Amino acid sequence: MYIKRIMLENFRNYHFLSWQPHDKINIIVGGNALGKTNLLEAIFFGLTGSSFRTSREKETVLWNASHSRVEIQLIWHDQQVTIRNTLTSGGKIERELNTRKLKKREQPVLPVIFTPDHLTLVKGSPRERRRWLDGELCLLYPGYDQYLKRYLQVVSQRNGLLQRIRERLAHIEELFPWDEQLAVYGARVTAVRLAMLSRLAPLFREIHSDISQSREKPGISYFSTLPLTGTEGEKEILGLFNSRLSSRHKEEVAHGQTLTGPHRDDLFFSINGYDARQYASQAQQRTIVLSLKLAQLELSYREKGEYPVLLLDDVLSELDRTRREQLLGRVRGLIQVFITSSTLPDIHEKNISSMIFTIAEGQIKSLP
Ligand SMILES: Nc1ncnc2c1ncn2[C@@H]1O[C@H](COP(=O)(O)OP(=O)(O)OP(=O)(O)O)[C@@H](O)[C@H]1O
Ligand SMILES: [Mg+2]
Repeated sequence: MYIKRIMLENFRNYHFLSWQPHDKINIIVGGNALGKTNLLEAIFFGLTGSSFRTSREKETVLWNASHSRVEIQLIWHDQQVTIRNTLTSGGKIERELNTRKLKKREQPVLPVIFTPDHLTLVKGSPRERRRWLDGELCLLYPGYDQYLKRYLQVVSQRNGLLQRIRERLAHIEELFPWDEQLAVYGARVTAVRLAMLSRLAPLFREIHSDISQSREKPGISYFSTLPLTGTEGEKEILGLFNSRLSSRHKEEVAHGQTLTGPHRDDLFFSINGYDARQYASQAQQRTIVLSLKLAQLELSYREKGEYPVLLLDDVLSELDRTRREQLLGRVRGLIQVFITSSTLPDIHEKNISSMIFTIAEGQIKSLP
């Protein structure tokens, strides 16, 4: 998959832009606040109808403009397709894939993005790791977002009931139908997460070993509120869920919270057997996140038969030369990449098919 043309109207600081990127590596250079991250955001928004920076998409409309448009022409499974997005300043989004209207959450084309914010994935909160797992990895599994949405609704309604039981406004037996739904959706969500992770883990280890030149042995595992070994299927998870739920009712009423289930699960990273959350250095965190993202690209290729585009915001300067070369060596020739940088990176002589662009005054020019 690669993007042939991007057209923007009133998106962030771009009044109007029509840009034809290179089909392999695009290096976008510009000083601070000129619109580098905005450009990656526009690509991400153009493909997915959502932003990686904000959940209030209307913020992306140029100040004082009534609407914005982002149109992306891409080659996808050897066909040329166009995705058109219109966003009003009130926040209403309309999207079309060729002439077919896209539903709000429909995301047929998912890019992989890596920004300095993602570096907190290792040491940040469990919520951030779950967001990555659900939002990026599990979306490769059809229907997952629907199961997750239903599951989270059940958790929220069940929590309300637990609080009413605690205040003696409801009876504990009223939990039973909610337990059943919680276990069914929760087991499905957990099973998909485990399945995706079991496919990702070997890729992650291999890529990590490449990038760190085998100096570090990484681990990735799923930390569940259920006593899982990690090899269970959905049916076995359902059984474990049911028995765990009935034994924790009293505790849950006391907390007014659902204590078991994937909304409280986490991921665990390690390096040479040590917990990365506590012990990983800055560079080790970067290598973990970078390897995760590259593994995600590879998994996406295996699941969908095509590499997604890769968006790298300002991360080259964070990597040392060896890691930078490993990264570009892995993606060269296979993947369309958009890399932003405030300084010209020293990779051009490496015989990598790439083009350098500069940003100024809302326009993009190629450097000869
Ligand atoms: N809705 C908007 N309308 C107009 N301008 C906006 C809007 N949102 C953000 N901007 C402006 O866009 C400019 C560029 O932002 P961007 O984050 O893309 O910069 P950048 O080139 O990535 O800079 P840095 O190197 O600091 O990361 C900023 O000056 C910002 O104030
Ligand atoms: Mg930026």
